[in-house]
Amino acid sequence: MGGETNHVKGAILSATDSESIRSAGRIIKTGGLVAFPTETVYGLGCDAMNADAAAKVFEAKQRPQFDPLIVHIADPKQLDVVIESLPVLGRRLMDAFWPGPLTLVLPKQRAVPDLVTAGLSTVAVRMPNHPVAQALIREAGTPIAGPSANLFGYVSPTTAQHVADGLGSKVDLILDGGPCPVGVESTIVSLAKPQPELLRPGSITIEQLSAVVGSIRRSSPVNEATTAPGQSSRHYATETHLTILVSVGARPVLKDGERAGLLIHSQARETDDRFAAVEVLSSTGDLKEAARHLFAALRRLDSLHLDRIYAEPCKEEGLGVAIMDRLRRCAAPRQ
Ligand code: TXA
Ligand code: MG
Repeated sequence: MGGETNHVKGAILSATDSESIRSAGRIIKTGGLVAFPTETVYGLGCDAMNADAAAKVFEAKQRPQFDPLIVHIADPKQLDVVIESLPVLGRRLMDAFWPGPLTLVLPKQRAVPDLVTAGLSTVAVRMPNHPVAQALIREAGTPIAGPSANLFGYVSPTTAQHVADGLGSKVDLILDGGPCPVGVESTIVSLAKPQPELLRPGSITIEQLSAVVGSIRRSSPVNEATTAPGQSSRHYATETHLTILVSVGARPVLKDGERAGLLIHSQARETDDRFAAVEVLSSTGDLKEAARHLFAALRRLDSLHLDRIYAEPCKEEGLGVAIMDRLRRCAAPRQ
């Protein structure tokens, strides 16, 4: 079995066409791979209950099998299929933030293949609020396991074209739902232990989470020992070396002949024309706008094959925590 389709492999179809959703649902049901938009980034989806299909996801992404996938559902009722029990704090977080960019790590149901969870006794679940993601999961009639639809370690995709650039014909179909409105991956909270633990910062902020469940443990920051599978520090990384500038507003001294890119959170200055390319994430310093533009800007700079990318930091509050997390991972030394 494997992704029955009338289309060329890797074709991009507009998700506004209901026939595209039907084809995509058929592909998932028959064990194939569909890239689909969510509010955060594009996912590489397969039937979460089918181990052979999940194996194809790992292969297409060149993802190590110790790194578990996120399972996407369209309705809280589907939770019974994938989790064994729901702690009270999990219920509160669901009620507050689903559908939306929050992933919960919960005790897994036996029926979920070990490959999906990398052999862990927990499973990561989220209910996206993107209408195309929801329609696809409903059409497929099964939870959809999906990591970000990029090659392992590279910057996550926020457009259908980004998916095609990285994975091309390794996917059966790419559903185009336009650019992702949030732009950074979901916040991940583990409820495996009594105290909730933040495994990955995202657009649901720590402040928002704490308002619902009280204090939250934060897993160790980048560059310290990794605590969770897939939290390896060099992730979301460009090919081009990236250096984070020392402070907001700082600019680097360039070496003679150095071709450098600049990524900033405010309007460019006249003297910035010494950079080969400048990407302004938000000219007004709006963090939501910056997050939405971050990955596309990094990809554009990376495609220029520059000597180095310099990134201006932003304030580490609210969404700024997730933006700085991604920039630090991008800047982390190659292992
Ligand atoms: O916004 C998102 O979360 C996107 C969209 C497509 O939903 N997905 C995404 O998936 O970012 P991925 O695979 O790129 O990142 C999933 C992260 C990995 O770091 C993985 O290690 C972690 O979730 N994860 C998955 N299951 C886990 C588990 N049982 N325990 C701890 N971490 C887990
Ligand atoms: Mg990813």
